[in-house]
Amino acid sequence: MAEKNQNQYQPPESNGYHRNDQESLHTTEDEEAKRKKRMKWTIGIIAFVIFQVVQALFFILVIMKFKSPKFRVGEFAVQTLTVETQASPSFDMSFVAPIRVKNTNWGPFKYDASIVYFTYGGVQVGQAIIPKSKANFKSTKKIDVNVTLSSSNLPSNIISNLGNELNSGVITLNSHGALKGKITVMFMFKKTKISQINCTMTINTSAKTVQSLSCK
Ligand SMILES: *[C@@H]1O[C@H](CO)[C@@H](O)[C@H](O)[C@H]1NC(C)=O
Ligand SMILES: *[C@@H]1O[C@H](CO)[C@@H](O)[C@H](O)[C@H]1NC(C)=O
Ligand SMILES: *[C@@H]1O[C@H](CO)[C@@H](O)[C@H](O)[C@H]1NC(C)=O
Repeated sequence: MAEKNQNQYQPPESNGYHRNDQESLHTTEDEEAKRKKRMKWTIGIIAFVIFQVVQALFFILVIMKFKSPKFRVGEFAVQTLTVETQASPSFDMSFVAPIRVKNTNWGPFKYDASIVYFTYGGVQVGQAIIPKSKANFKSTKKIDVNVTLSSSNLPSNIISNLGNELNSGVITLNSHGALKGKITVMFMFKKTKISQINCTMTINTSAKTVQSLSCK
């Protein structure tokens, strides 16, 4: 009997315990689910905010960074060169000047017509005409211009310097100019930029080659 009683008594007790366990399990499960949901939302919002900030920074620091396009004269081959080193030092020279406009912006650079001046001792000896055009988004515009240089207009003080240089077998030339244009990013953000060209080149008169060329 006692055994039976105990046996009969046990199930409700264990059931009761069981129900209590399940209830507490339910509430902690609910709280856990809510907490997980809140976590998910919080992570989602933080990720969204970070995404927005990264996007804004990328836009400001990369896309909207207007950089002056690089304006340069590349290496070239001398086509003709005649020099006179005796009584009246002089030179005449022709070549195709490879002028380059390197646009690293995230939009095209539309520039106005311009002139690149070639000088000897600060005096103009020739020029290259740059027609109005554009350098596309992240690309280099190549402009090949026929150039002829002549020392015929140099003043006498510079001619005497030229005589000394020609005797040592070189001609030192400078080319300079500016290209003014507008960069347009995302079809609406515009900025005017001026690119300078300033290159110094040394011509070897016996080899008729460009011995050195450096641009600022
Ligand atoms: C440059 O000169 C070459 C001949 O040396 C000629 O064929 C070419 O058409 C000229 N280019 C320009 C743009 O005048
Ligand atoms: C010009 O070039 C020739 C051949 O490369 C070389 O021997 C000579 O030293 C150069 N002249 C000068 C002044 O550097
Ligand atoms: C080009 O650079 C040289 C060397 O720095 C400088 O003396 C000269 O004034 C510059 N020329 C122009 C036109 O900016």
